[in-house]
Amino acid sequence: MNVERLYLDYNATSPLSRSVNNWLRSGDLLFANPSSQHSLGKESRKSINEDRNAIYKIFHKSEKDTQLFFHSGATEAFHTFSDSFAEASRLSGKELLICYSKTDHPAVVSLVDKFYGPHVKFLELKRDKNLTYLHGINYEAIKDKKDNNPDLVILYHHLWVHNETGQVSETKELDQFKSIPDLYIHVDAVQAPGKIPHWFNLQDGHIWSFSAHKFGALKGVGFSFFPKDLPFHPLITGGGQQGNLRSGTENVLGVRSISLALYDLMKVDVPLMMKSRQNLVEFLKNELQGIGGVIEGTGPMASNTVYFYFNHIPSDVALALFDLNGLQISAGSACSSGASKPSMVLLQMGLSDVAKNGLRLSLPFEVEDDFMERVKDKFRNIISRLRS
Ligand SMILES: Cc1ncc(COP(=O)(O)O)c(C=O)c1O
Repeated sequence: MNVERLYLDYNATSPLSRSVNNWLRSGDLLFANPSSQHSLGKESRKSINEDRNAIYKIFHKSEKDTQLFFHSGATEAFHTFSDSFAEASRLSGKELLICYSKTDHPAVVSLVDKFYGPHVKFLELKRDKNLTYLHGINYEAIKDKKDNNPDLVILYHHLWVHNETGQVSETKELDQFKSIPDLYIHVDAVQAPGKIPHWFNLQDGHIWSFSAHKFGALKGVGFSFFPKDLPFHPLITGGGQQGNLRSGTENVLGVRSISLALYDLMKVDVPLMMKSRQNLVEFLKNELQGIGGVIEGTGPMASNTVYFYFNHIPSDVALALFDLNGLQISAGSACSSGASKPSMVLLQMGLSDVAKNGLRLSLPFEVEDDFMERVKDKFRNIISRLRS
């Protein structure tokens, strides 16, 4: 039997955007190494330079005071900056405090398991049951450490849009932290592009990291912005292809795909998508009555993410059922074997009974009404089977 498959896993990765698709199909693809001195190499270099300019422009950043470099994605970015801060602190004989939350993406949480040296300590940022950052308590905890050690350097991780729940934690709330000297805010901006209205306004942070495959560009490439006056020690050294920022042959096609996909995103009507999402949330709340629920944060939510659960069905079992019925969604939290494990997010929210049952659907950047109706039909089908 042929089942129509609807892809609702955009937070895991997104299909290629329209412009990226058209460009790849056109076959007009550069291949030469941008570091080569011949004409074809220069064409590749020109292409990267054009894309860099476009990316600066889209995010209202200037080359005068802001560095931009390309890497393999946000995971590499978190490791790069943690390493860089640890090294800068070691060289200047200072201590480093890395702040994170247990409900951050594993790419950030896993930093805690690394040993950067005895001069590097970690501080867990507190969030309440609604996943709202407890900024007052966190500020006092950091301030206390800084008062005890005025030389302390602080790397503060902030998750802008939560990958599991879609909860938005606005960066403007971080204003008070900027009054603490030597505190640098690294914003995990991975899930923001195209899913919140002002995703291109990078304010109230210092470092911003993105993964291209989350917004319609190619996989294995991403980029970060950071202030020019920040001491930086590259994680990956070698031929110096991106100066002292990162070595390794640059991904010319990956970088081109970033600028093309970002231009597509600029045309997305995010507030309209938020309405479509809200409509789906209301529908699901109704359908899940008595057998599960939808998790809604207290603040703003991304335009595409809905987090829900069944009371008695672990997510790995539910996922198989969704897949059979053509809905491609994700478990809230899964280990690499695919078996469900308790979600840190659900545990933090006090929902330990259903901590293994979290499910996430993440919609495309834009949807037609007809698409949403087909999604709902599939849900009705799955839920009526479960009820019977
Ligand atoms: C919020 C968030 N941060 C970081 C990452 C890591 O991105 P990548 O796997 O592209 O390195 C992801 C990927 O799922 C994410 O959703």
